[in-house]
Amino acid sequence: MAHDPQSRFEQNQQLDPRIDSPGREGLTGTARGDVYEPTRDPEDVTVGPDHRPLEEQPRWRRDFATDWPEDNFVARRDFAKFLVLISGAFVAGQGWIAANSLLRRRRPAPSRQKIGSLSALPLGSATMFAYPNAHDPCLLIRTRDGKLLAYDQKCTHLSCAVVPKLDEGILHCPCHEGVFDLATGRNIAGPPPRPLPIIELEVVGDDIYAIGVTERTV
Ligand code: FES
Repeated sequence: MAHDPQSRFEQNQQLDPRIDSPGREGLTGTARGDVYEPTRDPEDVTVGPDHRPLEEQPRWRRDFATDWPEDNFVARRDFAKFLVLISGAFVAGQGWIAANSLLRRRRPAPSRQKIGSLSALPLGSATMFAYPNAHDPCLLIRTRDGKLLAYDQKCTHLSCAVVPKLDEGILHCPCHEGVFDLATGRNIAGPPPRPLPIIELEVVGDDIYAIGVTERTV
């Protein structure tokens, strides 16, 4: 019989591999594995809400896919963007630090400025002043034994204002519990990485002058 698959097989005739071809009913495993269209998991197919193919979707929808396959793709692309951004930010940060230190080196020495008087500063007290510019807050401290100390008030961690605690012999930064030694300005606890800059002082009679800033790395 012409349509009998077995007899066609025995006569070595060409078999139509399509599963719905006449005379193929009942046959299994008679076609090559790659004959049929590969089936795809519906979960694995990207379909826009208007059912047009992805290539015809607007750019914003391709960039912000909402289903799983494209979402993975976007994640990889975003990761690459993230790496590029991080690298760019790192390079910009290094450039900023280099430019800043160059500017600092070229900055003219701060001028001598009167910042207070001994008569207005009792033993065991502290006051604030600005030096070398109006936006640079500093602390002037007179210890109980009469010693004068002055520091930049900006914490060397993230620039919060440090608070003198004379009884405890420290300068405390409330932002992240940084602690500096009152007598030396050195960082002794918490996250601050460097000592506080020292404001150099000169006393003439009753007058107290700031004459320079000494920055330290250790
Ligand atoms: S800003 Fe001072 S410890 Fe962080």
